Amino acid sequence: MANSANVVIVGAQWGDEAKGKLVDFLACNASMVVRYGGGNNAGHTVTANGIEYKFHLIPAGILNPDILCIVGSGVVIDPGVLVKEIEGLVNRGVSVANLKLSSAAHVILPYHRLLDELEERGRGASKIGTTGRGIGPAYADKSNRYGIRLSEFVCPEVFAARVRAVVAEKNLIIEKVYGEAPLDADQIIAEYTPYAEALKPFCSEIAPLVYDAASHGKGVIFEGAQGTLLDIDLGTYPYVTSSHPIAGGACLGTGIGPTLIDSVVGVAKGYTTRVGSGVFPTELLDERGDYIRERGHEYGTTTGRPRRCGWLDTVILRFAVKVNGMTALSLGHLDVLTGMNEVQICVAYRNAEGELINDLPSDLVTNAGYTPVYETLPGWHEDVSNARTAEELPANARAYVARVQALCGVPIAAISVGPGREQTILDAEVMQKVQTRRQWV
Ligand code: GDP
Ligand code: IMO
Ligand code: MG
Repeated sequence: MANSANVVIVGAQWGDEAKGKLVDFLACNASMVVRYGGGNNAGHTVTANGIEYKFHLIPAGILNPDILCIVGSGVVIDPGVLVKEIEGLVNRGVSVANLKLSSAAHVILPYHRLLDELEERGRGASKIGTTGRGIGPAYADKSNRYGIRLSEFVCPEVFAARVRAVVAEKNLIIEKVYGEAPLDADQIIAEYTPYAEALKPFCSEIAPLVYDAASHGKGVIFEGAQGTLLDIDLGTYPYVTSSHPIAGGACLGTGIGPTLIDSVVGVAKGYTTRVGSGVFPTELLDERGDYIRERGHEYGTTTGRPRRCGWLDTVILRFAVKVNGMTALSLGHLDVLTGMNEVQICVAYRNAEGELINDLPSDLVTNAGYTPVYETLPGWHEDVSNARTAEELPANARAYVARVQALCGVPIAAISVGPGREQTILDAEVMQKVQTRRQWV
């Protein structure tokens, strides 16, 4: 433990890649898990000893009682949701004594949720398909310097004064732009004061804690939320979230510098999914997409919406390798692909002029002229969910993984064959590198 690496776990696609499973899996080698961005738009599932847990704000490392779990300053916290999540865990016998919240994190309040809904309605046919959790309006307030931070939220007089001022301004928009009924600041204060009392004991200065652990080889897992293609700057804008899911977000959302990060593990499914609107070149709108959705239970953890499903897109994965500085990949859901006669991998796009495009084009969202170029590989029919070593996988599944690795250009550290902790195949050599600190020489 004295020389454990600081590892970023980042979604390599459009979210829901099974980041939660990997965070929980790796947490036992760390002293700390820090969630660095997003809010309760996230749903991170961990299945431990046959029991399923769904985390929205609490880091997925919380099932390890010996490590500290921190909600970083880059996260936006809906206080009511967090209080319920804490209560839910306590009721299931999970200790939250090791949970800390950054005092600098911003809070989501009712006007954020309302404006999320009203803005989406206003977008009409070009709606983003947000989770409706108030995420965009909360990050917008932060950028616009209207936001209320947790340190203010837990201080009753400060909170009351801030809410009154902000609600007065928001009501102008709610009434005059959208023609809706105004919100009542006093009602919000009354409803949220008990949440503030409940959360106050968890508030902390987290940057020094993270720095201490990260700089002394104690091992920090930086838990990403959402995915690379949902990044506000680097994703498929405007069909993105409002935060920085990419690995760089780990620095912004926790207060450590990039030199303290030793490795970045991108998490991807063996196929692609997306919730909400926006471009999806390899989407399958036929029975093959339905097959993946049903076998993979591809329905949103947070909203229950059916996820759009399609073939693996390595143009997107190569983009994720580059913008995250990915050192290794974790490839999952191989069990879902069982039963298909053939599987396809998108290796490049072709533009309207017929040229091959290997790198993600910046006009992908606005230019409908790109079509995926596929390589077809033989599928497999064997049940892979009990495989615990690569040798136990059928030859066609092994060939599929090898091809993905070659197309992405980074080693595959882990293969996942089911939701359970134990349904994980490690490459010991790659994992050793992932978990070893990089020496500065
Ligand atoms: P996250 O948001 O990236 O943490 O991912 P989600 O939890 O939203 O979605 C991943 C889903 O797939 C969860 O229901 C997991 O329990 C499940 N899961 C994780 N790994 C595997 C796998 O290898 N195979 C299958 N079939 N399901 C998996
Ligand atoms: P995890 O962490 C998948 C998507 C929404 C929508 C867009 C913007 O579980 O992988 P927002 O509510 O953030 O303003 O919505 O982003 N989205 C996610 N999709 N997994 C997530 O989180 C997501 N968080 C947001 O569906 O398309
Ligand atoms: Mg999810």
